[in-house]
Amino acid sequence: MDVITAIRQRSSVRAYKSTDVEEDKLKKILEAARLSPSASNRQEWKFIIVKNKETRKKLAKAAFGQSFIAEAPIVIVACGTESKSVMACGQPAYTVDVSIACSFMILQAYELGLGTCWIGAFKEDETKKILNVPEHVRVVAMTPLGYPDEPPSGKSRKSLNQIVCYEKYE
Ligand SMILES: Cc1cc2nc3c(=O)[nH]c(=O)nc-3n(C[C@H](O)[C@H](O)[C@H](O)COP(=O)(O)O)c2cc1C
Repeated sequence: MDVITAIRQRSSVRAYKSTDVEEDKLKKILEAARLSPSASNRQEWKFIIVKNKETRKKLAKAAFGQSFIAEAPIVIVACGTESKSVMACGQPAYTVDVSIACSFMILQAYELGLGTCWIGAFKEDETKKILNVPEHVRVVAMTPLGYPDEPPSGKSRKSLNQIVCYEKYE
């Protein structure tokens, strides 16, 4: 599968089969995160792989009861381990770095036939308590990972001319 096909066809999955994810597939997905670019190549991130069912349920609760999160056999919780680094452009490096790694994982998962759903609606404090995440570490995102139990949803996106301009901001 080429990259644009994965980008075109992937959609968020909100229903999962209980079928386990093969270890070699999980490793490939984590390798996609490991190889992602990061500011100054600092790689200040940690990905927590949660398989325990009770913990997954707690994470779903921390995510405002989005119960499909616990349906998947794995939840990946993506953290930035150095939240103080700010790039010269003023953006915190960790949100950008961790988000790129999550995007790469999501695309790699899709190529392997696995579903994901970026989860940004969660209580960070509660999530950190559940997973023993140290105070200085930030949780940027989580995603369930498993075999989809729903058909792919269609894409609704703005057109290119709505989001692109040339030479100057318009
Ligand atoms: C930063 C971010 C946060 C998101 N948070 C949630 C979430 O908490 N729950 C959810 O069901 N989907 C969440 N999504 C998924 C978006 O709703 C979804 O990507 C968007 O509607 C486009 O649909 P698609 O992923 O199927 O192409 C999030 C996506 C992003 C990028």
